[in-house]
Amino acid sequence: MKINLYSDSLASLPSDLLAVFAADISTSKAKDAKPEVHLLAADSSLQKAAQTVLDGGEFRADSCETLLLHAPSGLPAKRLLVIGLGKAAKVTPHEVRKAAGTAVRFAKPRGIRELAIASPVADALDPLLTVRAIAEGAVAADYDSDTYRSDRKDRSVHSLRIVTAAGSDQAKVESALREGIIIGESQNFARALVNEPGNFLTPTVLGQLAADMCREFGLECEVHSTEKMRELQMGAFLSVAQGSDEPPALIVMKYEPKDAPANGPVLGLVGKGITFDTGGISIKPADSMEKMKYDMAGGASMIAAMRAIAQLKPRVRVIAIVCSAENMPSGKSYKPGDVEIAMPAPDKPGKSIEIINTDAEGRLVLADGITYAKQLGATHLIDAATLTGAIGIALGLINAGGFSNDDETWSRFAQGLKISGERFWRMPVEDDYRELIKSQIADIKNTGGRYGGAITAAMFLKEFVDETPWIHLDIAGVSWSDDAKPWLASGPTGTGIRSIIEWIRRYSA
Ligand code: BES
Ligand code: MN
Ligand code: ZN
Repeated sequence: MKINLYSDSLASLPSDLLAVFAADISTSKAKDAKPEVHLLAADSSLQKAAQTVLDGGEFRADSCETLLLHAPSGLPAKRLLVIGLGKAAKVTPHEVRKAAGTAVRFAKPRGIRELAIASPVADALDPLLTVRAIAEGAVAADYDSDTYRSDRKDRSVHSLRIVTAAGSDQAKVESALREGIIIGESQNFARALVNEPGNFLTPTVLGQLAADMCREFGLECEVHSTEKMRELQMGAFLSVAQGSDEPPALIVMKYEPKDAPANGPVLGLVGKGITFDTGGISIKPADSMEKMKYDMAGGASMIAAMRAIAQLKPRVRVIAIVCSAENMPSGKSYKPGDVEIAMPAPDKPGKSIEIINTDAEGRLVLADGITYAKQLGATHLIDAATLTGAIGIALGLINAGGFSNDDETWSRFAQGLKISGERFWRMPVEDDYRELIKSQIADIKNTGGRYGGAITAAMFLKEFVDETPWIHLDIAGVSWSDDAKPWLASGPTGTGIRSIIEWIRRYSA
């Protein structure tokens, strides 16, 4: 999709589809209150074209509600699509992101390949964040996970013009647009990885694709396997990998800008990259097991975040580690009851872990990834993983789980959420929960029982994080969506990437 800016009058913009946004400006809280629908556009020709139908009262401007007009009077556009943003007082760039996505997904199945979106003007909306959100929403909406369908028709939108008010600082608007495109494309890059089935996307292939990406965008990248992992004594990660004929991949990507201060922070990103999770010897039920190809979504998020960072160029060093393996049952698999020794730190022996359930494999690969990130110099850590089914039980499929051992680090992440529009709910990290992962025979065990399953998984990771400021994102509930949204296809969502990027940018010197 090519996206350009346009700041001339809409009266001289021919287009197959012109999308404009509307909001309800009434302040009444009563349930049956009649909405007062207003177009959020500076151009008066739009008001004229849409006034009659808006006065008709059938369009309420609810979030992502659409109303289509053909041959709007006084405008050269063939179609006018009005999209609701909900209550005007509460409108956010994220509401605009979704609505822009809705416009693109309205166009796609109708074979409309060219459209224009009028950037909404409202007191509550920062114009630059709004343009960026439109680009992000439009690019993400253009993605469909149809690569394996022989009957697929390429319905992607070829051209989008974003109409902004004349007189705004063009250089700034251009750069907001560029950011939005980079972030949206990186989100789609991760979604395409997550969509790949386990028979194609093995740990080795994930490593190759990460290396290709790094070459394209000028990042340093090393992909190691069993030998190096043995050298580093990654006993936890190796134990998960040993049941599969596919070798594991330890993917290390580095972004080291010259303009980052020498003694500044080093951000360490760690992603779970289980390319297929059968559960291993503690095998999962057949029902929905096919979904476990998305158990590398955390790893894909980190690769995608690096892809964006390489282009956005914040002044901060970033290291990303993806621990990729396939969790399989076989004669070589690790078993319940086994004791594994995690990677040692220079000053500390590796922790011993009693395996209770081989399906709690994500925390094992992450444990060694976290230790390695610290060894490579990370001063601040963030991990992303489809770690537990329990996070979906706790929060539903709406919010993802966020955990942190440090309020300041979390608050930077939380500020970024306001821009990314993603939803992470902070969960407790408290020592009382540590009791649940104590083992009779080893330092810790790899499951903490039924209650608080997402929290005990986080507590397990914290054993390896220690005092380093850290954020853990459990994205198991939100990385895959069975239902299509008006603004996003069904399948892989790419949730987390935008927030991780935003968090990193907050450390730029
Ligand atoms: N990959 C799963 C978690 C998961 C579940 C991701 C559903 C996406 C959707 C993880 O490896 C796992 O199996 N976790 C177990 C942990 C348990 C054995 C302590 C779980 O959640 O049941
Ligand atoms: Mn598992
Ligand atoms: Zn898993």
